[in-house]
Amino acid sequence: MNVTHERALLYVARAADEALVEHLTSRGWKVSIAHSPSEAVRLTKPDLPSAGLIDITRFTLRELSTLETSLRQQQIGWIALANPERLVEPDIRRLIRNYCFDYVKLPVAHPTVDYLLSHAYGMVTLCDLDMVAGVAAAGDDEMVGTCEPMQQLFRTIRKVANTDAAVFISGESGTGKELTALAIHERSPRRKEPFIAINCGAIPHHLLQSELFGYERGAFTGAHQRKIGRVEAAHGGTLFLDEIGDLPLESQASLLRFLQEGRIERLGGRESIAVDVRVISATHVDLVGAMRDGRFRADLFHRLCVLRIDEPPLRARGKDIEILAHHILHKFKTDSSRKIRGFAPSAIEAMYSYGWPGNVREMINRVRRAIVMAESKLITAEDLDLAQFTAQESMTLAQARDTAEKRAIESALLRHRHRLNEAATDLGISRVTLYRLMAAHGLREAGTPEHDKADGSPLPSRLPERPGRPPNGDACQK
Ligand SMILES: Nc1ncnc2c1ncn2[C@@H]1O[C@H](COP(=O)(O)OP(=O)(O)OP(=O)(O)O)[C@@H](O)[C@H]1O
Ligand SMILES: [Mg+2]
Repeated sequence: MNVTHERALLYVARAADEALVEHLTSRGWKVSIAHSPSEAVRLTKPDLPSAGLIDITRFTLRELSTLETSLRQQQIGWIALANPERLVEPDIRRLIRNYCFDYVKLPVAHPTVDYLLSHAYGMVTLCDLDMVAGVAAAGDDEMVGTCEPMQQLFRTIRKVANTDAAVFISGESGTGKELTALAIHERSPRRKEPFIAINCGAIPHHLLQSELFGYERGAFTGAHQRKIGRVEAAHGGTLFLDEIGDLPLESQASLLRFLQEGRIERLGGRESIAVDVRVISATHVDLVGAMRDGRFRADLFHRLCVLRIDEPPLRARGKDIEILAHHILHKFKTDSSRKIRGFAPSAIEAMYSYGWPGNVREMINRVRRAIVMAESKLITAEDLDLAQFTAQESMTLAQARDTAEKRAIESALLRHRHRLNEAATDLGISRVTLYRLMAAHGLREAGTPEHDKADGSPLPSRLPERPGRPPNGDACQK
């Protein structure tokens, strides 16, 4: 196999294994050898992401403690080579636990070392990327995403921001629907005007009308003074109707009237007031099903869903899972008094195997809890309460195939925005087979008409970005 770029590796060993060095060099590692911990400290390059291989077998504890400064470096991903005798020493165990991504007992096959080093190196470069993506964009509402579905989402956000057309965002709970709505507003010409969010599911039905449209003094008992509704408060800006699927039919009728006429009447008022808002709505329920059951008006849906955005579920975001986890860790690590450096391999593995039904919100909760619970410097699968999602859990080949098939279908559907013909071509199967497999995997509810999709509309391809800060998408690019 051709290796196209060199990765830096610091190999610390009293007597370096020459055959291993040769193998690692052939695998694209640029190996620097340190024969003593003090030489290792000298060779450590603080700005360069690299892997580190430490053979602890022949160093004394004192020597190893000299090495702690190098072990502590965030930009080196360490793997330890150990022998069983030394692994019983508490100080050695502590060093490995606190500073290394993994360890192997000697003797070990060279390809295994290469594999582990690649993993550790990958983790370090992800931290580095995370710095660029998250921290450089600083702020509480940055969106992290480098995978293709997220990049596509960022492109769509930029496109739709410049129009006034209604946007409908669908996605599982916790995928970032509200964050997307805010991102659209902040990149739109309305950014200096209000962004008003209303959670239609959280307001009691009998209060919804007055919350949405406001009332005049004396409109009903207890209406001591005029109240401006959320729709009117959003004048000039963006109105975000969250959980629109929970809107009762009565409010659906009033909202439809407002969308058609661009005017509202406060409860108990006679005046008809012109209100100019851009409407973004979101739901995590299946609105197509709700329309079929008569719980949601189709005419309202078509008004709301001029442009459609589908939020990819976290499990379909590939390596963004790891990037997001680091981003969250970075954001909340000060919650703990101990210095947490990252995630243990078990945690990473579990994060990829787990299905994340609560998506990014769930990840934030799990990582925050893990930061508090972690007993070492690396968060483990157990700290995330995901221990059962590591390799110890057995899986039959059939289950593994099933999971892989579902993932491939999900990401093809996301890539092609649920256009079945294109997704099927991409997967090398017929449309009928794809349809059947979607049913088998429970992926069929996204059956919205294809012409509703955002990128089917004639939008300009480049739109102005949010001033003063790089756009979310670009801020997160590799
Ligand atoms: N791509 C992302 N990068 C960073 N943080 C994110 C991302 N997506 C979502 N979040 C964070 O995850 C949390 C949930 O996001 P948000 O509230 O936008 O999701 P939602 O889809 O509206 O969820 P719900 O269905 O529960 O209302 C928020 O704290 C948000 O900041
Ligand atoms: Mg929400």
